[in-house]
Amino acid sequence: MLPLDDTEKSIYETILARRSVRSYQPQIVDDVTLCVLLEAAVRAPTAMHREPWAFVIIQDKSLLLTISNRAKALYFAEEHQKEHHNNLTHFSQMFNSPDFNIFYDASTLILICGKKSAPFAEADCWLAAENMMLVACAMDLGTCVIGYALPAFNDADIRNRLSITDDYQVVAPIIVGYQRGKTTPSPRKAPVILFKNTVIN
Ligand SMILES: Cc1cc2nc3c(=O)[nH]c(=O)nc-3n(C[C@H](O)[C@H](O)[C@H](O)COP(=O)(O)O)c2cc1C
Repeated sequence: MLPLDDTEKSIYETILARRSVRSYQPQIVDDVTLCVLLEAAVRAPTAMHREPWAFVIIQDKSLLLTISNRAKALYFAEEHQKEHHNNLTHFSQMFNSPDFNIFYDASTLILICGKKSAPFAEADCWLAAENMMLVACAMDLGTCVIGYALPAFNDADIRNRLSITDDYQVVAPIIVGYQRGKTTPSPRKAPVILFKNTVIN
């Protein structure tokens, strides 16, 4: 057992409880809850205190479907050809299905965007993403990073519709919603320690 006090333990338990959720109820996430998520996100560490993040919140089902379909089309046009892709068959089959929504029918998609000019903007955005996902988990909300959506946010039409200006790149697309059923935890390997040096004087 790790030596944790009560507060730290509850944070640790939240870390252990978080998992990627891929099945959602239709219930929408309200504005008060969204505010809490964004407040947690902007508390993340930020290189040179630049706070380079900006957020896009999409709760329009038809717009989410448009983005999902665009991402699927781009996947076939670009990603499909990459030799390093290990799960090609599995993903190809999934992406090929007209019914497959890359956002798993979640009611909300939050994009964490980073200012291109800021140093370490991507790192800052991912730290904000983890803050957000942990707080969501603590509030019994499910989340999942949807990396496969990223190519769609290079599309000029989609960027325009979402008011994403040229000085921002979308770093972390995260779906949020009320989980349907239960999600089993995914296993983790034990930490690989490359070096540890203890000097006892
Ligand atoms: C950068 C990144 C991109 C991801 N993209 C996707 C995605 O497009 N679709 C998806 O279902 N899960 C995606 N995931 C979720 C991972 O599959 C998941 O975190 C991993 O399998 C471990 O499971 P866990 O989050 O439940 O612990 C992504 C995760 C990360 C960090």
